[in-house]
Amino acid sequence: MLLSVEGLTIEAGGRRPILREVSLSVGRGEIVGLVGESGSGKSTIARSVLRLLPAGARVSGRVAVEGEDVLTMGQGALRDLRASKVSMVYQDPRSSLNPVRRIGDFLTERMVRTLGRPKAEARTRALELLDAVGMRDPGARLRQYPHELSGGMLQRVVIAAALAADPALLLADEATSALDVTTQAETLALLRRVQAERELGMLFITHDLHLAAAFCDRVHVLYAGTVVESRPAKELFADPRHPYTAGLLACTPELGDPRPIRPIPGRPPSLDDAFTGCPFAPRCPEATAACEEEPPRPVAVSGGTAACRLVEA
Ligand SMILES: Nc1ncnc2c1ncn2[C@@H]1O[C@H](COP(=O)(O)OP(=O)(O)O)[C@@H](O)[C@H]1O
Ligand SMILES: [Mg+2]
Repeated sequence: MLLSVEGLTIEAGGRRPILREVSLSVGRGEIVGLVGESGSGKSTIARSVLRLLPAGARVSGRVAVEGEDVLTMGQGALRDLRASKVSMVYQDPRSSLNPVRRIGDFLTERMVRTLGRPKAEARTRALELLDAVGMRDPGARLRQYPHELSGGMLQRVVIAAALAADPALLLADEATSALDVTTQAETLALLRRVQAERELGMLFITHDLHLAAAFCDRVHVLYAGTVVESRPAKELFADPRHPYTAGLLACTPELGDPRPIRPIPGRPPSLDDAFTGCPFAPRCPEATAACEEEPPRPVAVSGGTAACRLVEA
């Protein structure tokens, strides 16, 4: 397995863990979605794959990339992991780019510094990469500054940089969330194309369940730092089994959907909200008193699992 996360728990001083017993995997050539509201722990999972952990965090469980244990590997192996095995693309491309450095410097400096490529070779590779992400006139782009390019073009540059070291795994953390719809569609098409061409594994993080269901092979739904449902994308969308997943779909209707919009009552929990039972119980339309007693275990459902007592029954 390319990425394997098993029972990952991260505590950083709040009344409850940031992540509790999170398990997921990404195979080569597979797009796996990670969906949840803001604060559910999506970015913390992505960052833990690069061993970027909250300061002073207590961590248990296992994170492995190509079988190597990320949480315990030595500094050399960790450098290698971050430089060439796993790349991350963030929501805001401007946060990755230095505004006073040219696009060409951004692309080539990384290759020279972290991969030890000679400068001329790095420049040739930068031109190839810009071409691969569909940018016209790559030579002229290398001389431009970030402010001269649109957000969509900058995200292409960041994706080009992410591909520079031929990684096996791409972590896309809300990589298209800040883009307007047409640019989002172009960027999704680009991600899908480079993913397929290079047989990349991709962890695709979004707060948008409809988008994840359309873009991914499998989807994990996260709530308050726990995975509440893991299913093949089509099944999750057609037949959600966890009340939270069903609630997310019901409050974001699609065009032509005759069902009424039903917002999930209440608000997402913070780290100060601790739970003895199911974290979703306080907002769940189907919860009973028993749901508050102990955390539900993941139960096998068609194609995956759902962590809900009502599914067990
Ligand atoms: N370095 C950190 N130290 C303490 N708490 C953190 C840290 N990083 C994230 N958190 C908390 O962990 C929770 C999950 O955050 P995050 O993973 O960024 O969620 P998401 O990406 O789903 O919005 C939030 O409550 C956030 O405040
Ligand atoms: Mg995030």
